[in-house]
Amino acid sequence: MENLSAQKQNVFDNEEFFKGYMELRNGEINLNALLEQPAMEKLLPDLNNKSVLDLGCGYGHNCMEFINKGAKNAVGIDISEKMLEIAKKENGHEKIKYLNMSMTDIDTLNEKFDLIYSSLAFHYIEDFENFAKKMYSALNDGGTLLFSQEHPISTATFDGNGHYNRDENGKRVSYTMSNYNQMGKRHIRWLIDDVIKYHRTFGAIITALAKAGFIIDTVCEPLPEKWAIEKYPDIVKEYIKPCFLIVKATKVAF
Ligand SMILES: C[S@@+](CC[C@H](N)C(=O)[O-])C[C@H]1O[C@@H](n2cnc3c(N)ncnc32)[C@H](O)[C@@H]1O
Repeated sequence: MENLSAQKQNVFDNEEFFKGYMELRNGEINLNALLEQPAMEKLLPDLNNKSVLDLGCGYGHNCMEFINKGAKNAVGIDISEKMLEIAKKENGHEKIKYLNMSMTDIDTLNEKFDLIYSSLAFHYIEDFENFAKKMYSALNDGGTLLFSQEHPISTATFDGNGHYNRDENGKRVSYTMSNYNQMGKRHIRWLIDDVIKYHRTFGAIITALAKAGFIIDTVCEPLPEKWAIEKYPDIVKEYIKPCFLIVKATKVAF
């Protein structure tokens, strides 16, 4: 994996990683279900008769959701064959097309969409500036970009080992991180050794979007709702530092 650019890294097809990831996602306590997905859902635009592109679609549950919400069609892109195998089996639909390719190649689709959506995949992209331009081109005028990614506070520390500090009763009270303003590749241990992610500052992310032409509508660092705190009390750690960054932006029609 060392020599691979993360743009083409395909860690989700690694047997051990895939098994661990599926266990995590199928478990009751996962931050996607408790925090990220509810926040993303609230920011979805009206999907009635809209076309949607889902980047890093994983097992396709969001593509199916878009169709259920009235979208006229959805294209789900993922670099992982294993993820797409599940997508086709569990979330196959005549209005959904799944493509096994890197999202960095969306310029080869020669198609435009009303919504570009992506949940927790952009931290695998090396050249976000260039990628933002490709997304802008792939949107219809008036179209929406809605994405989540790991928060820059989480991706900053070189070995991915930012950590919470606890008081004498074991309660989390603060978070230590470093290397924030040193952008670039991170080799971290997440389920397996040497998963490659890319760290960008908050400023770099927003500036790349603005330079590409996007108008930023919403920047959200989600906090848990009451029901999520009841289900998983430890989630109050989000008040110390956010795990996720969510951005909603528009390609304005002139
Ligand atoms: C954390 S998972 C999220 C999956 C899905 N969006 C969800 O919310 O369940 C990240 C996904 O991004 C995909 N991915 C990573 N790099 C990619 C790339 N360059 N092009 C396309 N997909 C990529 C992975 O294979 C994986 O399915």
